[in-house]
Amino acid sequence: MKVSLIGLGKVGSAVAHAIVLKGLADELVLVSRRTEMARSEADDLNHAAGLEEHSVEVRAGGDVDTAGSDVILYCDAAQSKTSDVDRYCAARGNLERLRERIPILAAASPQAICVMVTNPVDVMTWFALQLSGFPQERVFGVGTLLDTARLRRLLSERWSVHASDVRAYVIGEHGEDQVASFSSASLGGEAMKPSDDLASLARQAAESAGKIYRTRGFTNYGIAGATMMILESIRNNRRRTAPVSMRINNYHGVSDVCLSLPAVIGRRGIERVLRPELNEAEQATFHRGAQRIRDVIQTLAP
Ligand code: 2OP
Repeated sequence: MKVSLIGLGKVGSAVAHAIVLKGLADELVLVSRRTEMARSEADDLNHAAGLEEHSVEVRAGGDVDTAGSDVILYCDAAQSKTSDVDRYCAARGNLERLRERIPILAAASPQAICVMVTNPVDVMTWFALQLSGFPQERVFGVGTLLDTARLRRLLSERWSVHASDVRAYVIGEHGEDQVASFSSASLGGEAMKPSDDLASLARQAAESAGKIYRTRGFTNYGIAGATMMILESIRNNRRRTAPVSMRINNYHGVSDVCLSLPAVIGRRGIERVLRPELNEAEQATFHRGAQRIRDVIQTLAP
């Protein structure tokens, strides 16, 4: 499998390292504007790869070297210098770069699955879909998978069970109006009982990126982990369900905008979309997130 990684900032580097450690590519191409730095990063990663059982060939390259990729992981972002998380502040700069690159990358790898990591991920996914001309099952964003992982961790501590046995999805906007869909959540097949602290755990999960930003100035390991789960499900055709940002088609009255819903991810990309039930309050939050994304897209559209 050939994977091309676009952008080598804090997130891109963490993703590249995880791919090497987990052996999730046969060939990994690193594309960055800083070509010398990309070469050195490739060398460093090849040193790490040499110590693993599996083999991953890492090299630095330009857009043409991505030709024939099976998966494109898009992490390229303009540098933002905020002291708190603001996923929308770099939207215009990130979109400018996306507009230049996606047509080139898509032409070089017409069969690729394009996974968007760059924020604001729902907006970037929307534009990547338009600019690539790819079918929608092959362009999606990491979306609320990371928020889901954060919430599951808190719930697993709350109920003393392993995080992967908590079937609770965060869907909708990867941002303030994310929806913790407790009305369809379960633990080992048993419906999750309503309890007073659920709302506060959901808030804690939603606010955790901000908490990390205020000390580190960025997050990267969590998002790299979420990207790995998606890549692994594609590579090994695992058909895991993960909430990913995709073009929504008539879900609770929402269409034609990218937001996260749980999807089955396999070798062909999104193989099936799941449509969890939402109560009224959850629907209202989902709609607010959809409106925010629509407004941002409208401001940025040519
Ligand atoms: C995160 O949630 C900032 O979107 C990034 O960690």
